[in-house]
Amino acid sequence: MEVVIDRSETLAALAADAIEALVTRRSDAVLGLATGSTPSAVYDELVRRHAEEGLSFAGVRGFLLDEYVGLPEGHPEAYRTVIERELVSRLDLPTESVLGPDGRAEDLAAACTGYEQAIADAGGIDLQILGIGTDGHVAFNEPGSSLASRTRIKTLTEQTRRDNARFFDDEVDAVPQHVLTQGLGTIMAARHLVLLAMGRSKAEAVHQLVEGPISAMWPATILQMHPHVTVLVDGGAASRL
Ligand code: GLP
Repeated sequence: MEVVIDRSETLAALAADAIEALVTRRSDAVLGLATGSTPSAVYDELVRRHAEEGLSFAGVRGFLLDEYVGLPEGHPEAYRTVIERELVSRLDLPTESVLGPDGRAEDLAAACTGYEQAIADAGGIDLQILGIGTDGHVAFNEPGSSLASRTRIKTLTEQTRRDNARFFDDEVDAVPQHVLTQGLGTIMAARHLVLLAMGRSKAEAVHQLVEGPISAMWPATILQMHPHVTVLVDGGAASRL
């Protein structure tokens, strides 16, 4: 595990560098895309490089980590809408090249199995961008998640619903209770993991991620078993290392 502690702008540029190197080497690269507030600066930097330097994503495919269950199509906080707004619509990346778990499917279990198949059919994920929750969740794998899990339905913890209420006019009750999420086993199958964390609220989770024992109670700790992980943290998030 490589840990880089730096200013947030530098970290966003480093993550963008990794993505640029990949898509330059392989124009049909498969990217794993995260939502949440942390990766936004990375996406802004990719958009800038696309606009100013001609970095192309025309042949790239993307897979989202997770999705809320039950939000109507086009809901501004549905992760498929968020990634469209923040990234896809601002690049030459075709909308249909980016998939997410279908949180509106009638058969959610079948949607999860189909999603795993779609990732496998694409040849697996080359580079996965990750954030981390204050309770150590990655994607929506909450504490207690199986370390070998695949894409499935999960129930959010109260803490995560409170953390995410800021996207729902600060109304905790408006945050869906259920989500579909890639499992920790799915995430571990990606060839390179790039995790970003900013601010003191992430310090305990980052401490556990880097220095804690591997435990389902801190799901991100499974990343210690991955052969190629880059952890990009600012001073606040690194303050307990
Ligand atoms: C959300 C997402 C995660 C994200 C995390 C942290 O619940 N499902 O993918 O990494 O919480 O979000 P943020 O970057 O906004 O702190």
